[in-house]
Amino acid sequence: MRLIASETGLAKIRQAREESGRAIDDEYWSLAASRIVEPEKDWQPGVTWFAPGCSPTTWQRFLRGKDLINAPAFKAFCQVLGLFWRDVADLRDNESVSQRSIDWDAAPDTSVFYGRTQQLSTLEQWILSDRCRVVAILGMGGVGKTSLAVRLGRQIEEHFEFVVWRSLNAAPRLDRLLDDLLGFLDRKFSLDEEQTTSDRVSKLLEILRSRRCLICLDGLEALLQPHEFAGKYRQEYKNYSRFFRQIGEANHRSCFFLTSTEPSVELVMLDSPTSPVRSLRLEGLSLAGSQRILEEYDLQDKKEWPKLISRYEGNPFALKLVAPAIEKWFAGSVAELLKQNTFFVGRIKDILDVHFDRLSELEIQILQYLANTGDRVSLETLHQKLASGVRKSHLMMGLESLEWRSLVVSTNHQSAPQFSLQPTVRKYVRDRWGEKMEVAV
Ligand SMILES: Nc1ncnc2c1ncn2[C@@H]1O[C@H](COP(=O)(O)OP(=O)(O)OP(=O)(O)O)[C@@H](O)[C@H]1O
Ligand SMILES: [Mg+2]
Repeated sequence: MRLIASETGLAKIRQAREESGRAIDDEYWSLAASRIVEPEKDWQPGVTWFAPGCSPTTWQRFLRGKDLINAPAFKAFCQVLGLFWRDVADLRDNESVSQRSIDWDAAPDTSVFYGRTQQLSTLEQWILSDRCRVVAILGMGGVGKTSLAVRLGRQIEEHFEFVVWRSLNAAPRLDRLLDDLLGFLDRKFSLDEEQTTSDRVSKLLEILRSRRCLICLDGLEALLQPHEFAGKYRQEYKNYSRFFRQIGEANHRSCFFLTSTEPSVELVMLDSPTSPVRSLRLEGLSLAGSQRILEEYDLQDKKEWPKLISRYEGNPFALKLVAPAIEKWFAGSVAELLKQNTFFVGRIKDILDVHFDRLSELEIQILQYLANTGDRVSLETLHQKLASGVRKSHLMMGLESLEWRSLVVSTNHQSAPQFSLQPTVRKYVRDRWGEKMEVAV
């Protein structure tokens, strides 16, 4: 797809450029757009080439508004100017755009986004090439699930007739969500309280078959039951399980794109490398990506940054909380922070509290034992050591649940699994439950 600015769009571009105070021929414009189009590359001033469509010549063509330029570059130039491309582009004659309906209103801004090239390309392949019907991004709080989902959604939106983003944070009942989606996808839709859930689902499936839609639902964990093993729906939301199973199994052309801290049961059951339902487990940002985040702050001791990043496992939210705390309490000295034996600087504990508040009793006991041994432990040992005399099958379910929540890591040792904790999790568990150990170590 290619785009061109409208008359009013051109006026907005001119005003935004003048307000920026930068000259038209400043290389900054091409450089900043390149950082958006190819964020994984290290774009530094003085480069002689730019990301596709972002060269200074194309920038001039964008400003003149006389000919069409490629859509990703057009959108990137708009973003650099602080404008939303839909307010700038001339969409009147652009069939492919005007027939489409896109709603990103509720999605967060991702103009600052680093790395994740590999994950973007895997997800893109699953959704566009493999035509997956349900795709989920799973991972710890603050690891970047929402940001990655928005970034990808925006990158591939032109392949869909309808794109909609909804947060599940307020935990809408299924019927309400369906009415909301139907209202967006079907212009003739009118609310009918008499309709059953299954009428609504049938109507939705009909649309998903005839139109290619991308439906992004952010924060599925809001529908899941806390204080039980991972993946079970809360009582009032149990019908979501059947709904997602139908979406995964029925034949249609659309995709539900989800984020969650833990997978729901039907996701685990249907997920496989060849199935149209897949999930991607998201870990922290790469070293380079994490460094880019830290560069936004006034921090010293660059040599020590990798240690800081590994302490917080590249969790972008944790880094964004710790960096200003280092500025404030240690005059920006990363080395000083690392010397302290303190892990929960600033509000970092808040991210983890949300995660750990959801755990069941048995999961907490398992974590306590693993945190205090500090070693890899087999199922047998765990079974012997847990004071409550828990059944082995129950213990296995607890361990599985912790793996789903990305809190326990399992490795195979002589063909039997062994379990351990990531350093962050170990520190947290010791800090929160350390003194209350009731398990036999
Ligand atoms: N790739 C990235 N580059 C730069 N910043 C990022 C990146 N990913 C995430 N962030 C930043 O980290 C913070 C947390 O990201 P995000 O909200 O996407 O995490 P999340 O996994 O969805 O968290 P939660 O589980 O709480 O919903 C945000 O401020 C976001 O801007
Ligand atoms: Mg999120």
